[in-house]
Amino acid sequence: MTTYLEIKSIHAREILDSRGNPTVEAQVAVLNHGNGNRYEGTAAVPSGASTGRFEAVELRDGEPRYFGLGVQHAVRNANEKIAPALLGANALNQYEIDRKLIELDGTENKENLGANAMLSVSLACAKAASAALSMPLYRYVGGTGAHLLPVPMMNILNGGKHAANTVDFQEFMIMPICGSCFSDALRICAEVYHNLKKILEDRGLSTGVGDEGGFAPDLPDAESVLSILVEAVKAAGYVPGEDVWIAMDAASSELYNEKTDMYHFPGESRLKGEEVIRSTEEMISYFESLVEKFPILSIEDALAEDDWDGWQKLTARLGGKVQLVGDDLFVTNKKRLAAGIKLGTANSILVKVNQIGTLTEAFEAVELAHKNNYTGVMSHRSGETEDTTIADLAVAWNTGQIKTGAPCRSDRTAKYNRLLRIEEELGGAAEYPGLLAFHVR
Ligand code: PGA
Ligand code: ZN
Repeated sequence: MTTYLEIKSIHAREILDSRGNPTVEAQVAVLNHGNGNRYEGTAAVPSGASTGRFEAVELRDGEPRYFGLGVQHAVRNANEKIAPALLGANALNQYEIDRKLIELDGTENKENLGANAMLSVSLACAKAASAALSMPLYRYVGGTGAHLLPVPMMNILNGGKHAANTVDFQEFMIMPICGSCFSDALRICAEVYHNLKKILEDRGLSTGVGDEGGFAPDLPDAESVLSILVEAVKAAGYVPGEDVWIAMDAASSELYNEKTDMYHFPGESRLKGEEVIRSTEEMISYFESLVEKFPILSIEDALAEDDWDGWQKLTARLGGKVQLVGDDLFVTNKKRLAAGIKLGTANSILVKVNQIGTLTEAFEAVELAHKNNYTGVMSHRSGETEDTTIADLAVAWNTGQIKTGAPCRSDRTAKYNRLLRIEEELGGAAEYPGLLAFHVR
């Protein structure tokens, strides 16, 4: 007989994220008819700053409280519309639950209920079900095959919309390839992070941090950031391009100006005292030169979210040696990913559950990526909470990579610490992929 985990109650509330803005949290209670016990699952929704234009809609109240950012409407949607539709359903049927959520919303971009309302319930159902079955979330979601710990793509220097400094590209990250296991890899990252802090201090540069916990000094351009990162890796005793590689998220949609059809670099312009703008062609050449000079293994959103032609050229020129990750380009949406695969754009997808709004759809995007030899990078948002679901999902779906900020700020370390616990729990079954997580190099 199928286990019946009857959804007994769904309660959403407004909580705060790591930037002090409101977000939605949902609590789902289920009754396990097998043993008569009640179990709960709670999930909180993250929020982006450099959001892609094609993301599912994050419903905001637009009222004076919280500068318009309140989520009381989304909370009401969860409590008054979603809850009545799902009470009595079997929490074990995640696919069915998510299908019901999508039907109830009835729009392509989830603007009716709000992806924030929908995702909070979708994830909380999965967590309640895993609790009711006494299984860790990664095991419940991923089944017997879940065993791969992710390589951290750790953002240790912040720019763009995540900091008030002059660095135009949003994220500069390190990836420890040489670690023998996840805990070892995490230690290497923390060591590089502390060495970076010392280097910045020694040069009189700011060691204040951005939204994702990485340092946010005023540096003139990408080259100077990359040089300092290489120095920090060496100072920590590791070999750049062997032990530790570099990843970047250019978040180029934020730099792209539709009117000029060019990419504008405001920080670089300010520090250099002259306007710095680059065409698509110049952007591609710029990335090529950076890849020549520095040990870069992965570049995310190198070009804007709608520049399909540019992405095709970029992939043709760099796709063989660099992981090219589509974030704003694909927005965890299997339709956009399918279009990209057809055109031969990018070779990797960033996976942000709130970009699409249900657990099932996020999984479908990862599945489609893997089937087509694209890698998947599980990811946080710049606005996070203490919720650690993405750590479990990275293991559940064997993504092999996770992007969840610096080893600083509890909203970021919570995910890394959860992965440490998972690794311990998996024991001998835990695998750390290192370079195998990448299809390049
Ligand atoms: P966001 O940034 O969460 O602010 O969108 C993260 C990213 O671009 O990867
Ligand atoms: Zn991004």
